[in-house]
Amino acid sequence: MKINGTPYRTIWPSANDAEVVIIDQTKLPHRFETVTIGTVEDAARAILTMQVRGAPLIGATAAFGLALALRADASDQALADAIALLARQRPTAINLRWALEEVRVTVAPLPIDARAATAWAKAKAIADDDVETCRRIGENGLALIRAIAEAKAPGEPINILTHCNAGWLACVDWGTATSPIYQAHDAGIAVHVWVDETRPRNQGAALTAFELKSHGVPHTLIVDNAGGHLMQHGKVDMCIVGTDRVAANGDVANKIGTYLKALAAHDTSVPFYVALPYSTIDWTLASGRDIPIEERGADEVLNMYGQHADGCVASVAITAPGTAAANPAFDVTPARLVTGLITERGVAPATRNGLLSLYPERRETAA
Ligand code: MRU
Repeated sequence: MKINGTPYRTIWPSANDAEVVIIDQTKLPHRFETVTIGTVEDAARAILTMQVRGAPLIGATAAFGLALALRADASDQALADAIALLARQRPTAINLRWALEEVRVTVAPLPIDARAATAWAKAKAIADDDVETCRRIGENGLALIRAIAEAKAPGEPINILTHCNAGWLACVDWGTATSPIYQAHDAGIAVHVWVDETRPRNQGAALTAFELKSHGVPHTLIVDNAGGHLMQHGKVDMCIVGTDRVAANGDVANKIGTYLKALAAHDTSVPFYVALPYSTIDWTLASGRDIPIEERGADEVLNMYGQHADGCVASVAITAPGTAAANPAFDVTPARLVTGLITERGVAPATRNGLLSLYPERRETAA
């Protein structure tokens, strides 16, 4: 997608393939800066500090990080150590482990001196595949938006609520939840997005609003608690969110607060869709109960980060000193609250059979 007219991906190999470059998402929307990642430690740090975040992008970054590790040492021990290092940076997004396993099974059978180049090519393929997968998620979600548009008065915008950032900045391009929105907008369908600010890291305010603005999609930022009210008053036609891990029964882990939006949507009969690539499904988990939920630092809750009128970007405390804070970063929305799962293979009910209808090759192995 474009920033100031220039097309970008969120991660790309440097010109000589020596390193990989990312957009530093901790600086957005106030500054656009890129960071060069040259070692596995750099990649691990970028994931931990959320210079890159969002399930598919975390996976792609981990794949490049593993390839960089193998350039330094491609032994079995180094492979295992690098996988362990990268995997422990963020616990909830399954794409991280998925991408590491994709690289591991590709390189482990190879002679040591062939591993690094093959891992690099695999990391590039994972990134390219994510772009195409998200594009197809968008096509499938577009059909849902079109159906709602046809039931409305001509030109009346479709109001879509989204939470966190499941946009192109969370992926390599297009996004998951936003791909249908971009494709609808590009097809001339009037869409308007309610953007949840998404405390405490404000991915909605800082990232989703930024990328929608960059692409010219009409949107309005709302505080996290406003969604239920808007739904009660008929101002939301559908919700589309992303996810960090989907269990085999269709339970969905996503950014904290997603569950409350799904409850409000259920109560007000607003369709609640979850958009995801195949790499976000954890076929080993029978339900969402066992999805590990990342606990983050209290400092993210106790402080707000933003830009002062003089242009200085800084953090300010919002509580009295000594206030206790808890910071669970994700929650699990039960499948019964999800209207449908939008994937690259089509839209399915959020049930085990629904998922298996799209991925029949998993029938024998799914939990
Ligand atoms: O903590 P983050 O910013 O990595 O969390 C991201 C989200 O929860 C996204 O909505 C989710 O990863 C889907 S990304 C397509």
